[in-house]
Amino acid sequence: MGVNEQLAASAVIALASAELAYLSGFGNEHATEALPGALPQRQNSPQRCPYGLYAEQISGTAFTAPRGANRRSWLYRIRPSAMHQPFVRVDNGMLRNDFGADAATPNQLRWDPLPIPERPTDFIEGLVTFAGNGDPHAQSGVGIHLYAANRSMQRYFYNADAEMLIVPQQGRLRCATEMGVLDLEPQQIAVIPRGVKVQVRLLDLVARGYLCENFGALLRLPDLGPIGSNCLANPRDFLAPVAAYEDREGEFDLIAKFMGNLWCARMDHSPLDVVAWHGNYAPYKYDLRAFNAIGSISFDHPDPSIFTVLQSQSDTPGVDALDFVIFPPRLLVAQNTFRPPWYHRNIASEFMGLIQGVYDGKAEGFLPGGASLHNCMTGHGPDAATFERASTMDLSEATSITGTMAFMFETRCALRPTRFALHTELLQRNYFECWQGLAKHFDPTSL
Ligand SMILES: [Fe+2]
Repeated sequence: MGVNEQLAASAVIALASAELAYLSGFGNEHATEALPGALPQRQNSPQRCPYGLYAEQISGTAFTAPRGANRRSWLYRIRPSAMHQPFVRVDNGMLRNDFGADAATPNQLRWDPLPIPERPTDFIEGLVTFAGNGDPHAQSGVGIHLYAANRSMQRYFYNADAEMLIVPQQGRLRCATEMGVLDLEPQQIAVIPRGVKVQVRLLDLVARGYLCENFGALLRLPDLGPIGSNCLANPRDFLAPVAAYEDREGEFDLIAKFMGNLWCARMDHSPLDVVAWHGNYAPYKYDLRAFNAIGSISFDHPDPSIFTVLQSQSDTPGVDALDFVIFPPRLLVAQNTFRPPWYHRNIASEFMGLIQGVYDGKAEGFLPGGASLHNCMTGHGPDAATFERASTMDLSEATSITGTMAFMFETRCALRPTRFALHTELLQRNYFECWQGLAKHFDPTSL
């Protein structure tokens, strides 16, 4: 075995290794090579690339986007992405992007978790669309899906419609992307950029969780304003993969999601054949337990925007198309204050999920793996049991919220539930009853 073959073999072994290396920093200009010297120096497209690789750029923003927002990477791969058989349409399964097939309802909605499938189901087959807004054609809006799977993908996948925010709830995932490998466990998230090829493998027998397609502007860290230069999600906790590649030939299926539909192309080599890359357009992971939560130390709550991990900005300043918000373990110490979330109606729409534990706004019924949707101007808030407890509790002690992780995909535009979401047996048709027991406490003579 020659030196190069030995290096190639070690890179393949690295791809299968349990201990993965990562590159730290949100949106950083990373440079990584699985073989020494694979990255061209001081230029992107030399006449001949090292090791006989092909140079290929992938852009995630317009070429002329301002420097602070400009995202692109250079990939050095065994064969260019253009080399595949023609794509043909394949079954979309339970994936939908034609939101609005049924009339959206102003009712509060809540669902039980997806059951684990009985027949062999990979990550893509296991996706079930619950709601969305906007349109991938317009590069605006979101698609919200739950997934339940019981086998690793044998196929490969890329999404031309959206970047994908994956939120595992049960079971570890190995996201083998063309730019390297990310391992994920519940309470961690991953973002796979638009166009980046990925094969999702299961590290446990079953996997379940949530996936948000972001058709719009790339997710970014929110500005911090008076909070200062630290806290919330800190940039160094975002991890990109190091380069790793497969040099395999045979029969491979590449699935593309394009304009709401799935397509399949046959290839004679693995699409995960990038030996080196550099740039700032890359998959990344983040551990939600690293989120530095900020809250009130006097009275009342800040708005829940204080829990924003990532945002997709719209063209209107201050109005996000999508906020990814979490409700992590924390202390509530506000005095003379109703400590759970207050009752509210918002112009934004809120799709919530629960990764583990109990959400502090609901005593029961909101299950790990389940979901709820409170759309634009739909009244909601704590259930009756939570209100009675929190409005009479002793506030001299801090309330310690532990062992939980809830999250929200909050959108600017109303979310349109899919036909499946409105008709499935998973829909809790008695959800509205959790507010019916709220007592009338009003007494005009009580002051
Ligand atoms: Fe809410």
